[in-house]
Amino acid sequence: MTKIAVLVSGGGTNLQALIDAQQAGKIENGQISLVVSSNPKAYALERAAKAAIPSEVLRRRDFSDAEEYGKALTALLENADIGLIVLAGFMTVLPDSFCRHFENRIINVHPSLIPSFCGEGFYGLRVHEAALAKGVKVTGATVHFVSEVVDGGAIIAQKAVEVEDGDTPETLQKRVMQNAEWILLPQAVSDFCAGRLRVDGAIVHKN
Ligand code: GAR
Repeated sequence: MTKIAVLVSGGGTNLQALIDAQQAGKIENGQISLVVSSNPKAYALERAAKAAIPSEVLRRRDFSDAEEYGKALTALLENADIGLIVLAGFMTVLPDSFCRHFENRIINVHPSLIPSFCGEGFYGLRVHEAALAKGVKVTGATVHFVSEVVDGGAIIAQKAVEVEDGDTPETLQKRVMQNAEWILLPQAVSDFCAGRLRVDGAIVHKN
């Protein structure tokens, strides 16, 4: 059984999708064992409490730099014997040393079709604002392994979502979450825990 830690900063709807999938028996060979929030006010913490999942708060500002933050997070995750780390709306950039330490064991969900609208500065609603400003007709979500390059790790799964006339960043965000993120993320987590994902350089194969 792979122990899963979910890292959050906000509302935690992706965490909820994982909890729901777990309760429906859809996370094969995995168990959400810990939720870590960078924000003590994150609603995600209440979702964890309701599901009786232990949680910790680790605020970036309590550490002198990203490196120290990464060390504390590493210790927390190692002590809990975590085998898979899921970034589910986690808004703190992690240091390279952390990404290397957990290579191919960190999964992130991003609300666009990478390599569009990703990288430094593209997070949350900003991604959808940029997609609407560009006038793309299709966007979507991507689940990928985390490397030292922001949003640059090997892609596990993607799903397209249509942009509709009159969309606002908020309506588009909601459609991308419902129709892509909340489906892709639990599936990828289950595939990882069941040992179905094989990383071959930049390419992920699913057995
Ligand atoms: C989600 O849309 C997620 O894809 C995005 O933040 C939102 C978090 O929502 N993540 C990023 O932009 C990371 N670059 P949630 O807290 O309700 O899951």
